[in-house]
Formats: sequence, structure tokens, C-alpha cells
Amino acid sequence: MQNYESTEAFARNLDEQDSLKHFRDKFYIPKQANGDDALYFTGNSLGLQPKLTREYIEQELKDWETFGVEGHFHAKNPWMPYHETVTKSLAKIVGAQEQEVVAMNSLTVNLHLLMVSFYRPTATRNKIVIEAGAFPSDQYAVKSQIQFHGFAVQDSLIELKPRDGETILRTEDILQTIAENADSIALVLLGGVNYYTGQKFDFERITKAGHAAGAIVGFDLAHAAGNVTLQLHDWNVDFAAWCSYKYLNSGPGGIGGAFVHERHAVSFELPRFAGWWGHEKETRFLMGDEFVPIKGAEGWQMSNPPIFQLAALRASLDVFDEAGMENLIAKSRNLTNYLEFLLSEIETDRIEIITPSDENQRGCQLSIRVKNADKSLFKAISMRGVIADWREPDVIRVAPVPLYNSFADCWKFVEILKDCLK
Ligand SMILES: Cc1ncc(COP(=O)(O)O)c(C=O)c1O
Repeated sequence: MQNYESTEAFARNLDEQDSLKHFRDKFYIPKQANGDDALYFTGNSLGLQPKLTREYIEQELKDWETFGVEGHFHAKNPWMPYHETVTKSLAKIVGAQEQEVVAMNSLTVNLHLLMVSFYRPTATRNKIVIEAGAFPSDQYAVKSQIQFHGFAVQDSLIELKPRDGETILRTEDILQTIAENADSIALVLLGGVNYYTGQKFDFERITKAGHAAGAIVGFDLAHAAGNVTLQLHDWNVDFAAWCSYKYLNSGPGGIGGAFVHERHAVSFELPRFAGWWGHEKETRFLMGDEFVPIKGAEGWQMSNPPIFQLAALRASLDVFDEAGMENLIAKSRNLTNYLEFLLSEIETDRIEIITPSDENQRGCQLSIRVKNADKSLFKAISMRGVIADWREPDVIRVAPVPLYNSFADCWKFVEILKDCLK
């Protein structure tokens, strides 16, 4: 850890030196009742609105007004191939080839659609491995897939649990569970960064272990996309899905994303649910009755995509491109390390950070466990202008986001927390 100091002057000095500090002005920061900026730490739940978003959406409203249906071809950014405008930036963010990613639907829908192709259980190999305490939607999705295929959840679901007295999973335990069930696992599906603890998993080793066991390996990147360095292609991950309303700032209910590794995406052996937008582009409008999938992740599309949502995502990704993912990660680590340092300086036994202290095992989120699940602390900081969130049973999550949070935000937050702990 760097030699940090818990003074306001030190925090402001870090902000002065921050080469990304001007990016904060590219976002709308919610205000407190007194007109000051709120201390917004929930970019892991809903990212803030880039100022560019309105312009991009208004362009589409204008083009719709001007061209009607012809906007599919004559809009400034024609709607027919509009989803392609975000592909390059998304591919950079998740570490993929362009043909391996597509923006479509929303997260849980994409998890289901990808499981249609990638969860192909047999009488002997039908188990799915997830984290115990995975986000509820993921649990519902995998359990319903198991049942849909006629298997019983208690037989086919393996939940990875931390050791007694521990809160995060050890990689060696994950690998061991996979090895021990090598004959029966069909799919390993983990949240790349766990929504509750903020733990980032070792994608590469888990993928390797899953493949060695003869299983498919997928990741839910809700808390990883735009937050941590991803190399999905090189890590050989089979598939992944994410939402874009968290770190990717595309707005509430924003369009999701999907990754299908090249080795699956260009072969047509996998079964899939088909729709016309996944059909080969050159012949889509011949209106034939035989489905010919597009090569690549685009072949998993079903419907023509929501242009306004794509416009919002495009605006945000332009900001990402300008900032550069590597620069963002470097700042993110510094911000989170600083926040961790400030928290560690508080003299109290009422809170503890459960997120791994190793910066390679987390993104920007820190999960603060409150002893005795006392929600009054969360309510008290909320009253003082902190926007964080409470996750049952006992955690306050705070995520300093490098695009718009400052070191001074972290310092102010911890001062408020200290006060409220008194
Ligand atoms: C890890 C994880 N999975 C799934 C979801 C559900 O996302 P959606 O409502 O976009 O399907 C969320 C939403 O926060 C999430 O954090």
C-alpha cells in the first residue's frame, strides 16, 4: 500500500495529480438538498449519466422525426447496423475480438439464452457450479434451467461456500470442487466479481479447471464489465453476459451484452433460440423461412435492438474510449486502496471490510460489514449526503468509480462514517 495520509489536504493533492480528474465534469452528479454534490458511491448499481447521453438520444429522436422508417438507412447513424457502433468499444472492455461480442437484451435474458446453447446436461453430466450467495437472478436462472431440463436442483446444483469463519472463496477450494466433480459438471457459472463481497475471481484458472473437467465455463460480468481488466478471449472463457447500467453508465434498464468465444461463435453446432436479428445480414430481408445465423456473437441476437438504449450506451462508451481502460484501472486501484486505508484508520470494532484486501482480487467496490446487522449506520450516512447501498443481511457497499469519483469524495465519506460511528 502507498504511504497514504488521512487528511483532506492529502486527498485533495491526490485529486490534483489525477490525470483523469476532468472526466468528473462529463457526468451529472446528483445533488444534496443544500446544493452540494452528493457523495455518490453506487456506480456499481447504477452508473451516473454522461452529459453526452442526451445529445446521442436526441439525435435518434431527431432522425426518427425527420426520416420515420427511412432512419434505418438514412439516420446519421443508421439504425439497421446501429448495434455495431458499440462493438469495438465493448470488445476492448471485456478483452474480446469484435466478432465475439454483441449488445442485446438484458442480463438475465442473455444468461438464459446463452445457457440454451451452453448448458446441455446429460444423465451423467448435468451439474452447474455457482457461488453460494450468487446474485438472486443468477440463482433463479440456473435453478430454472436445471428444472427445465428435467433435473432436480438438489442433485444438479453445486454451491461454492467459503470455509467456516471466512467470507470469501479461496481459489484453491473452487478448483478442488471442480476437480472432485469432474465427471458430473456441465457448467461453471460464476459472477466475475461477486456483487456482495466484491471478490473478483481468478477467471483464467477457473476456466482452465472447468475445461479440464470437461465443462463449459461462463461468467456473469454485471460487476466486472467496466470495473476490472478482462481478457475473455485469451482466458478462453466460453461465454459471458453483462448489464451496462452499472459501471458502463448506460442508464436504468440499459441494454445488456454477451460474449461467445470465437471457437463457438463461428461454428453452428450449438443449438440456440433463434430470431430474425441473428440471421445472416445479407439475406435477412429475403424473408426466407430457414434460419442462417450470423457468424459470431451477433448470431445470438433475436430482436431488432432498442436504438435509444444503444445510443445511451454509445455515449458512455465514447467516454470510456477517451479515458482508456488501463488508465481507469490504475486510478480505480489507487482510489479503492485509498478508501481502504482511510477505513482502516477508523478506531472501531463495529465495521469490517469483507472485500479481499489484495487489489488483484477486487474491483473498486468495498463491502463494509456492519456488526449485528445494524442498519442505523447506513441510514445515518445516507442522511449526511452519502449515496451507498445496503445489501441484506449486513453490508454497506461503496464503490468509488474512477470516471467520476474523487479522492476527496472518499475522504469526506470516511469523515461522515467516523462521525456516525461515534
Ligand atoms: C450479478 C447480477 N446478476 C444479475 C443481475 C440482474 O440483472 P438484470 O435485471 O439486468 O437481468 C444483476 C443486477 O444487478 C446482478 O448484479
